[in-house]
Amino acid sequence: MSRTIAEPYKIKMVEPLRTTTHEEREHAIKEAGYNTFLLHSDDVYIDLLTDSGTNGMSNIQWSKMFLGDESYAGASSYYVLEEAMREIYGFKHLIPTHQGRGAEHLTSITRVKPGQYVPMNMYFTTTRAHVEMAGGIFYDCIIDEAHDTKILHPFKGNVDIAKLQKLVDEVGPEGIAYLNVAPPVNMAGGQPMSMKNLREVRAFADRYKLPVIYDATRAAENAYFIQQREEGYKDKKIKDIFREMMSLADGCTVSAKKDNIVNIGGFMATNDDYYALKARELVVVFEGMPTYGGLAGRDLEAMAQGMHEMVDDAYIASRIRQVEYLGQRLIDAGVPVMQPIGGHAVFLDATAFLPHIPQENFPAQALAAALYVDSGVRSMERGIVSAGRDPKTGKDNKPKLELVRLTIPRRVYTNLHMDVVAESCIELYKHREQIKGLKMVYEPESLRFFQARFEPLP
Ligand code: F0G
Repeated sequence: MSRTIAEPYKIKMVEPLRTTTHEEREHAIKEAGYNTFLLHSDDVYIDLLTDSGTNGMSNIQWSKMFLGDESYAGASSYYVLEEAMREIYGFKHLIPTHQGRGAEHLTSITRVKPGQYVPMNMYFTTTRAHVEMAGGIFYDCIIDEAHDTKILHPFKGNVDIAKLQKLVDEVGPEGIAYLNVAPPVNMAGGQPMSMKNLREVRAFADRYKLPVIYDATRAAENAYFIQQREEGYKDKKIKDIFREMMSLADGCTVSAKKDNIVNIGGFMATNDDYYALKARELVVVFEGMPTYGGLAGRDLEAMAQGMHEMVDDAYIASRIRQVEYLGQRLIDAGVPVMQPIGGHAVFLDATAFLPHIPQENFPAQALAAALYVDSGVRSMERGIVSAGRDPKTGKDNKPKLELVRLTIPRRVYTNLHMDVVAESCIELYKHREQIKGLKMVYEPESLRFFQARFEPLP
């Protein structure tokens, strides 16, 4: 008999959840324009909108916050964070930012020349938006398997080196600003990259003297998949695997609101003295002094402690096993989900779930709204709405993946909450033909998914 492995922590403080009636939820989603981003959190029962900033901090993190040095310049908390970053990530320079997109902003404006390409393994919404605002062009270099929800590839986030080669052959290395690689890939379903592939990316970059910048937002979760799935890593510690991954990059951007188990924060890190200098010149314009980057000293302390906690083997295993638990319940019931199950979320395959709704009627958006009305579970559309429009043609980007993300916050919910979520998805799947498509009635110019409004089709 395989024995149960429980969470490596116990719960000291609880936050009551509010339940609502079906009628209340129908009213709330209508008021929110059928966009789960626009719901009031008081109307939500189990909030799986995101794992970003929604984490449960440890008693040690909370206690460290009292040590926060709130000096405007040269705060000791900065040096605590710098030391933790150098130990865990291993980069030379640290520039904190208010959250991940602040780091993406600094990276794009210092490194992208207008007209240059930035290859990424799939896109992330804010990362691509910053590259494009700096005049760069997004180029997708993820392996083809990532666009298919059924292929059981262990490292579906891998970069296709042939696609990188094709781009270099077309535009030359000078036409590329940097390789922006994300282990794991959020939009592909939290799919990891292998160490072998990270090494191949490094070797390719060296050949053409291109910098490799990671989006290391959930890289500790990627390290877990390497430990579990890649030959030669079974007996290695997450901390060492993580460090080896980072040693293959020139720098990174991080949203600390994920891996680092805090509620706010981010940073960029680099080994390059020139780009560190340039970023420090600009961080004072956009974020704050280079030693706090828009954060309070207490936030820096919580982040530093979070860096140590995120590479704890027992923690990361329990985190990812919970995501797997929810995914497996859905797989067992025949509900179509992105497979294999990724690190931070279970992704419902809205195309297979709702084959009667064409992509232009936003099946994933409609499914997220229906799930909320059924059980008060809040999820997020990751399909055609999130993909936005092509900046050149103005046409909708039509992603191959039309997904609803059930994102699991770290150390927040129990597996019984996961059961409630699974039962609601299973029930909806049984009556899926009753779910109707939507039409968009308000569309913001950029990052439209955050604030777009919809109405149900008759
Ligand atoms: N990179 C990745 C891979 C992310 O998932 C996010 C945020 C960011 C960068 C930007 O960081 O929000 O701190 O500015 N993802 C959140 C999500 C919003 O729900 O997936 P941020």
